[in-house]
Amino acid sequence: MKLREQWGSKLGFILAAVGSAIGLGNIWRFGYMVYTNGGGAFLIPYFVALFCVGISLMILELALGHLTKGSAPLAFRKIHEKSEWVGWIAVIAGFVITTYYNVIIAWSLYYLLNIIAFGLPNDPNNFFFNDVLNISSSVGEIGGFVWGVLVSVIAIWAINFFIVNCGVKKGLEKANKISIPLLFILVLILVFRGITLPGGLEGVSWYLTPNFAVLKDPEIWINAFSQIFFSLSLGFGIMIAYASYLPKKSDITTSAFTISLLNCGFSFLAGFAVFGTLGYMAYATGMPLDEVVSQGIALAFVTFPKAISLLPVGSVLMGVVFFFALVIAGISSSVSLIEALVSAIMDKFDVGRKKALTLVTVLGLLGSSIYATKGGLYYLDMVDHFASGYLLPISGVLEVIVVVWIFGGERILNYVNRLSEIKIGSWWKYLAGILAPLVLLTIISLDIVSLIN
Ligand code: PHE
Ligand code: NA
Repeated sequence: MKLREQWGSKLGFILAAVGSAIGLGNIWRFGYMVYTNGGGAFLIPYFVALFCVGISLMILELALGHLTKGSAPLAFRKIHEKSEWVGWIAVIAGFVITTYYNVIIAWSLYYLLNIIAFGLPNDPNNFFFNDVLNISSSVGEIGGFVWGVLVSVIAIWAINFFIVNCGVKKGLEKANKISIPLLFILVLILVFRGITLPGGLEGVSWYLTPNFAVLKDPEIWINAFSQIFFSLSLGFGIMIAYASYLPKKSDITTSAFTISLLNCGFSFLAGFAVFGTLGYMAYATGMPLDEVVSQGIALAFVTFPKAISLLPVGSVLMGVVFFFALVIAGISSSVSLIEALVSAIMDKFDVGRKKALTLVTVLGLLGSSIYATKGGLYYLDMVDHFASGYLLPISGVLEVIVVVWIFGGERILNYVNRLSEIKIGSWWKYLAGILAPLVLLTIISLDIVSLIN
């Protein structure tokens, strides 16, 4: 039997896991979630979700991977023969996400190259929807390929292939050791620029001013929990695979806290960049703040570029920093999604890394190409909703049932406490075993209800 690959250092593992967690979602999704869910008050359910469920499940996934030394399907098989399929659901759900996640990174790359070559677009709305996406007017029509996007998608898959092909230590670890510190620097530049602009501090105070009335709204709580699950990359077997490459003596609990806190700290920080810059836009255009903010993908691809194009100097530089940050945040996440499936295939079929990866890349490219058509955005929205609204919570619930209920929460608890400086109490069993699945089931039911209505 071949020896399992290992991280070169503890820091390398932490950076890779943080790289998975910090992604496109942290840069634009967190910001508009805060804004649309009551401003600063959203941070209350957000941190409740982080401490009650996010960190608990992070401990669960890391412990499972470390204990079994296996990717998700193998890990589940080792603790309960009949549950291997739960692991497959997780990694396949992750694969579905990769197919469109890589397309959003590809838009960012395309945007980045355009800014470098031609400067910021005069009309970002027209540029993004007509030049980049080339959306067809009839909803649901696939239409032809949008070549610029397709070529960028191929480039993104090629970069992923290159990194994952180099293996755990020379590929994933090395890439993240460079890109994560760089990412923090890029975001600090954006934060500094954002808050020092005229109007910047107004934008920030608007980002953080709480409206406590919203805490009565259950939807806000659901949004906070969903954001935490997705943001911490939970439910796709990623943290299981990453922990399976740790050496025997590893402090699981401390790692879980470190990874989760760095991820959420990064989101919080990125909010200053986004809202500081939007505050400037309000100042420069004389428009009220809530009219300059937009939701969804338009925030990153239309509004933010519009805001920086108003700068008297340095707007091209800011555009480059912003889209470069999106690209590296995205890639360090997509390599983790790919690794989760590649390692599952390697564990199961006893094939080498290159073979497994080639298979995943070819299928992935085929999947991604659907979203590089004129009707692509429509399909992307649909699949995103399906994957993060159903697949992710379903795979989370199954994971908890097998690990906490069948295998035994007590055993996991004893296992991590033997390894860690920080000892966790039996409260963990209730949070991971009962609260987490209840929240996930609520998310699924609300989605079904809204589907029916
Ligand atoms: N956590 C990443 C983000 O917030 C996305 C992601 C989800 C990555 C699931 C891997 C798995 O953008
Ligand atoms: Na990332």
